[in-house]
Amino acid sequence: MFTILTGIIYACVFFLLILSWIAGSKASKLLYGGSTERLHRKTRKQIVWAVYLTLPAIGLVAATLAMAATMAPVFWEDRVLLHLPLTLVPLLSVWVLAVPRLTKLWKATRNVSAAPLPVEIRKQAAQPMVILPYRMSTIGAATIFYFLLVTPVPFRLGPVLVPILLAAAAVAALGYAQERKYGRVGDPNAPAPTLPRGRWLRAAGISCVVIGVAALIFIVGSRSSRLPAAMSMADGPMDFGGGTALVHDPRTDLSLAMLTGPRDREPDRKITLTAEKKTIELSPGEPFDAWTFNGQVPGPELRMKLGELVEVTLINRDIEEGATIHWHGLDVPNAEDGVAGATQEAVMPGERHVYRFVAEQTGTFWYHSHQHSQEAVKKGLFGSLVVEPEATEGIAAEEEDLTIMTHVWKGVGMAIGDRSGIQRKKVVPGTPVRLRLINTQDWVRQDYTLTGTPFRVAAIDGADLNGPQELENVRIELTTGGRMDLTFLMPDAPVFLSVGRSGKLGVLLSRDGTGSVPDLPETTAFNPIDYGTPAATAVQADSDFDREFEMILDNKLAFYNGEFGSLYTTNGEVFPNTPMFMVQEGDLVKTTISNRGAVDHPMHLHGHHMLVLSRNGEPSTGSPWYSDTLDVQPGEIYEVAFVADNPGLWMDHCHNLVHASVGMSMHLMYEGITTPYRIGSDTGNHPE
Ligand code: C2O
Ligand code: CU
Repeated sequence: MFTILTGIIYACVFFLLILSWIAGSKASKLLYGGSTERLHRKTRKQIVWAVYLTLPAIGLVAATLAMAATMAPVFWEDRVLLHLPLTLVPLLSVWVLAVPRLTKLWKATRNVSAAPLPVEIRKQAAQPMVILPYRMSTIGAATIFYFLLVTPVPFRLGPVLVPILLAAAAVAALGYAQERKYGRVGDPNAPAPTLPRGRWLRAAGISCVVIGVAALIFIVGSRSSRLPAAMSMADGPMDFGGGTALVHDPRTDLSLAMLTGPRDREPDRKITLTAEKKTIELSPGEPFDAWTFNGQVPGPELRMKLGELVEVTLINRDIEEGATIHWHGLDVPNAEDGVAGATQEAVMPGERHVYRFVAEQTGTFWYHSHQHSQEAVKKGLFGSLVVEPEATEGIAAEEEDLTIMTHVWKGVGMAIGDRSGIQRKKVVPGTPVRLRLINTQDWVRQDYTLTGTPFRVAAIDGADLNGPQELENVRIELTTGGRMDLTFLMPDAPVFLSVGRSGKLGVLLSRDGTGSVPDLPETTAFNPIDYGTPAATAVQADSDFDREFEMILDNKLAFYNGEFGSLYTTNGEVFPNTPMFMVQEGDLVKTTISNRGAVDHPMHLHGHHMLVLSRNGEPSTGSPWYSDTLDVQPGEIYEVAFVADNPGLWMDHCHNLVHASVGMSMHLMYEGITTPYRIGSDTGNHPE
């Protein structure tokens, strides 16, 4: 709905701009009609142009009001306060000021065929109030267009004042010019007006000035958007979310480098991951320059037990861009989080880094490099990570536990792990099956359909759901970085998990490992908002929150690091100007995330799990729904909450890593924590 309405608004503004431009130039040329007969015809047409302008204006107003009637104010307050007046005031002036004068002129020129035009008629045709209203429509539409491209969010009066004043100045200047022209035309001794000579020359002159000014703005904008060669992530603009700031005392500051996992005892499990470049052929004849862990893409699956102290040694053999390992979704101590420039230095070729953490949550996670993460994940520097419950003696049923990690590879397209096509597997009927879905593909919201058995969604983003009901003909949609576990008892007949709707990629489970792919049923999308049974949580919708933050996701046309483009913004800004959410340990934190943009943004908070309180105003009524990678679609608004119980500096970014790499990134910062690390071109640390 939101996407349709914004589409209508864009189209209407575009038409309003074009039509009013044509109408305005026609109006200013009425005067040069030559004969009254021609002027008579042109005048009638000019009145019809008022109708043409009214149509897109109505469309724009209707779409805006529909938005206001159905959605939260964050989506429309700027539109109602800016777009509506900018549309309606000029339109009204067309109908109230221009049209009656045009009607009079039309009557006055009826049945007269004098040429040249008598002075009286000339004056009527050159009245500023005949021409200016059409010109105002163009200026109004252009201003709306500007506000669509450079969205004023969060809405504040200051930043919108400059464009509004510029628009008003343009109207005043045009009015003045028109007034002078009117004075000249009214001179009875003046010769009959003709189109001014040299107007092309003048137009060219004006264009040159405009282009010059634009170029200047471009150069200044490009220069000033360059990221500093070295900066601390802790230097961003602070947002205290309505809470009070600590009285800062540098003597009590704590470096996050101290916030490690246990270093003083033997680990229960030791793992070595070697990052290296390797050319592999995922599909015959298509060499792919992969970045691998231990020579494979994806990297090896890491399995561990709840409560184990795990030690992972990362060795970078030859990836000059550097590497780190981030444990996506696992809430580890801050210094083990693996973000280059935030929690460690990037590991360069020949170097190593040791991570240590206790696996404190069971569930499905993944790991990936957080140095040049967009490129690293695209090239394969990631793998799945599963934390299993502690062994329950004897009674643990034989479970079929399958990880299904979907990713798009160059030359292969969407694959499960590194394999395309249908995979078949023998499963004895009666066996409990768990499918761990992990989507690591940027951009695509992937869907999965399970047929042949009812199933339950047992976990989202590594967090078990309470009392999940059986589902059938429900498809799972997984955002990039997201995970869901599906469980069922293996029936006698085959079960098929389809990745996408084509039936060409998936996993077929059957008694004997054979069988053919079934037709996919009609499905509805899985909706966690009322799924499962409620249970107690540490924080609820009616908690007394210490901090309340707002995160408005949108687009704007601007510069990022010297390059111009359509950027993805958080609260109107791109990194490093995005806000830093400041908290203290123990705070109950609520964040409202809304997406006013045109595409999905899977928002990923490190080190914490967000409890979804509501979506689009509808409270979450099922099982507690925790997420670390929350897909916020255009027009959606989520309220989420978490307990600030893991001190440090934590990334909070869009997990469409392309978006993160052009500035859709910010962080959560605990007061009193400092980081010794730096990011920027001089440092070798490039987390995105
Ligand atoms: Cu999976 Cu900050 O990333
Ligand atoms: Cu995004």
